[in-house]
Amino acid sequence: MASLANRISTCRRCDLCASRARTVPGEGPVPCLIMLIGEGPGRKEDESGRPFVGRAGAILSGLLRDIGLSREEVFITSVVKCRPPGNRAPKREEIASCIPYLDQQIALLSPLILVPMGRIAVSAIFGRYGIPFPSFKEVRGRRYPVRDREGGPEMVILPVYHPAVITHNPPARSALEEDFRRLAECLDGLQGKDR
Ligand code: URA
Repeated sequence: MASLANRISTCRRCDLCASRARTVPGEGPVPCLIMLIGEGPGRKEDESGRPFVGRAGAILSGLLRDIGLSREEVFITSVVKCRPPGNRAPKREEIASCIPYLDQQIALLSPLILVPMGRIAVSAIFGRYGIPFPSFKEVRGRRYPVRDREGGPEMVILPVYHPAVITHNPPARSALEEDFRRLAECLDGLQGKDR
């Protein structure tokens, strides 16, 4: 994982490299049970090189705390590893350039639960695993069992809201909390099971 982060730090596969201050490969235990995937770094993440350290990060830490987990127990990353200028959504070609890094991280981490947060991450992950993506609303909170490779261990994809949703839609807090309760239930259910 450290050598992958090193390769990401010099990446020039897309135009985001021109405006970034730092790459944000992600952080957490290797391997891990839960891998959380956001959209892309914001300003604070770009400055620090660490994922989810800004406002969305504070919300995420609270959601994890509420289900009895700490940030240190989960792997946190985003679909693109460099900040899109002005926090715009990453473009299709930027996601396509960056997704091989996410693939390699998933292979190294072998998570039990893959948690794409928000529409962009869900659409990228569903595309990667060939799962139809009718709309975010239809897939949110449902469990999608997949294998990262033939004969590999089963993982569950659990799409949830992005933590930043409540910064522009405060009533979404209860839905977001429900998503993380579902994550806790999913973890409890899978932990005893043979993989
Ligand atoms: N939002 C994301 O999707 N990723 C981050 O690292 C921070 C905010």
